[in-house]
Amino acid sequence: MSRMEKTWLLVVVAVISCTAFCVYAAGPVPPQDRTAWWQEARFGLFIHWGLYSILGRGEWVLYQEHIPFAEYERLADRFNPKQYDPKEWVALAKQAGMKYIVLTTRHHDGFCLYDSKVSPFTSVKTAAGRDLIAEFASACHSAGMRMGFYYSLQDWRFPNVTPHGRLIPEQTLQPLVDQAFAQIRELLTQYGTVDILWFDGMWPYDAQRWRSQELIDLARSLQPDILINDRAGLPADFATPENTVAARSRPWEACFCLNRSWGFAPYDRNYKPVHEVLRLLASCASQNGNLLLNVSPDEHGRIPVEQAEILHQVGRWMQLHGRAIYGARSSPVVAPNLGMESRVGDKVYLLIQRWPGSTVPFAWCGSKVRQARLLATGQLARIEQKADRVWLHDLPAYPPDPYLNVIELSFTGEPRAADPAYQ
Ligand code: GLC
Repeated sequence: MSRMEKTWLLVVVAVISCTAFCVYAAGPVPPQDRTAWWQEARFGLFIHWGLYSILGRGEWVLYQEHIPFAEYERLADRFNPKQYDPKEWVALAKQAGMKYIVLTTRHHDGFCLYDSKVSPFTSVKTAAGRDLIAEFASACHSAGMRMGFYYSLQDWRFPNVTPHGRLIPEQTLQPLVDQAFAQIRELLTQYGTVDILWFDGMWPYDAQRWRSQELIDLARSLQPDILINDRAGLPADFATPENTVAARSRPWEACFCLNRSWGFAPYDRNYKPVHEVLRLLASCASQNGNLLLNVSPDEHGRIPVEQAEILHQVGRWMQLHGRAIYGARSSPVVAPNLGMESRVGDKVYLLIQRWPGSTVPFAWCGSKVRQARLLATGQLARIEQKADRVWLHDLPAYPPDPYLNVIELSFTGEPRAADPAYQ
């Protein structure tokens, strides 16, 4: 070997060893946090839609009224949603400030809104003659809206697979387990990128009977970045408290009805007022959680006007105040005398439910407040601070936003809580 060659060899060996050492020293590459976009999003739309929307008595009507299946299945001959335009749904969600939509591809009644080869009971093989999920997927994809599929393991066409049914032996449940595997495969291969798989209805069986870990592995093999909820009986990516804001120490999403029904129920006019919807959203975001808010289209595919109107109002609020919600985390600086608070980056947002007047006081603040801005109007407050106690002066005597007012706080350095020792 010539001198020149020796030198080159030395250089190559040195570079390789150096790189190897750096990789070793840096440790294994951390798995990419799949939930990052979803934790940033904080707000999604849930849609319950299916054959039950024809009867208008909620999505449990088949079971609750003990309708013979032969009678219920005839609804499929009438289900032909001429006014279904998922582009409108997506536009409504966008306008409301929502960042993802989860739609029932198949609820407990077993009726598929999509083209399932393993079931005769689908919108493609009955009156509609359409793959409604394909249309939904294309509307979401072309608008850049993240898309989730709700899928019920439960299927009331199978005897004794009901919430209170007798437990059935393994071989009797087998066809239903097989169906779940086949349908999850269909849903995750026929419609492009699916961002969320939202399981439901596992009762009365457990994760072992449903082979949930295998189901989850199948889903991830088909859609590596998909987020999966905890309702196949395993924790997976996120928890799903229902109709309650029950904060968890892991990623979580509270799902709420706008009234008291998931499926279309025109008699149910028990709508949450806009300020209540915003309170729920703020309450989730300020505790590191998401809100999945449900609408219930009618049999034609129209979202009831009362529901659309609430979402419009929420959207108007989000335009001015969304910065307090997107990517929000719990805040070290708190103001329980006023309402709630969230933290985004180095800013803290006071979500004020009890507006105290032209001076807004709070305490136990461990950092110096540099700027306080009322988001509804952009007005800056005059700041007075004595140690941990802060007064924001010269604000309006009455709150300018009719639903929920927010003050954005900037600090010198990071926001911190004061030392809790009380003197
Ligand atoms: C429950 C209900 C169901 C609804 C769901 C929404 O599991 O069975 O009807 O779809 O909750 O979270």
